[in-house]
Amino acid sequence: MRPKATFHVDLDLEQIAFFRDNGFLSIERITTDEEVEWLKEIYDRLFDQRAGEDKGLYYDLAAPRAHKGREVLPQVLGPDFTFPELRESQHYQNALKLGTQLLGTDEKVTAGGHMIFKPAEYGAETPWHQDEAYWNPDVYLNSLSVWMPLDEATVESGCMQFIPGSHKKDLRWHRHIDNDPLIHGLMTDDVDPSKAVACPLSPGGATFHHSRTLHYTAPNTTEEHRRAYILVCSGPTRKREVPAPRPWTDEEREALAKANIDVEVF
Ligand code: NI
Repeated sequence: MRPKATFHVDLDLEQIAFFRDNGFLSIERITTDEEVEWLKEIYDRLFDQRAGEDKGLYYDLAAPRAHKGREVLPQVLGPDFTFPELRESQHYQNALKLGTQLLGTDEKVTAGGHMIFKPAEYGAETPWHQDEAYWNPDVYLNSLSVWMPLDEATVESGCMQFIPGSHKKDLRWHRHIDNDPLIHGLMTDDVDPSKAVACPLSPGGATFHHSRTLHYTAPNTTEEHRRAYILVCSGPTRKREVPAPRPWTDEEREALAKANIDVEVF
């Protein structure tokens, strides 16, 4: 059962200004320990079930689609399709509220979720990228991601790292990890990691980042799993006259068709 306690959290003007300037923000808490425990149960069930695998909603983000080996960075998309009660949680409600504040809009903001699991000892890195590279090329985006760990997130277990101010630059060229278009995970080159700011967090804390902020998480070299639940908050968008080029997504679709893997690319 979902814990019923209400947890209030607000951002002050300084935090909002920090996000505007830097493209990210870290807060100590977005929900309660009790709710984190409930979320962990749901999280583990989704990964045990490989929820939505036949629809392309479960796959290893850092290895070729449909590979049979050890999974190094499995991901579940749309966990709230399986468990709609996730939308009633304090985590979801607070993410939507704070996300709306940071997007600076009075219009309706929606949220969609995904979960990324970094197994203990061999969980792969998520290389430097901008989320926009994955997203809808038909519109000018107005989105940010809210990243919450359900386990202790340290540099060694794979906490978020950001390049401050990178959200003010254009979308970069991206390519698939290992240059393999059957690997969904994307990366971009020539990022200076000495400029990175790491944001360690305890379970139930959260970071926010803009759709263009460069970010990274290291391989998990610890003995504990690192479970992360991400909500993407999207405000109103404007249609582009011409879709933005996404050659890496085109390559992926072609490679999947060639390999006879019949899934949507989300
Ligand atoms: Ni990302």
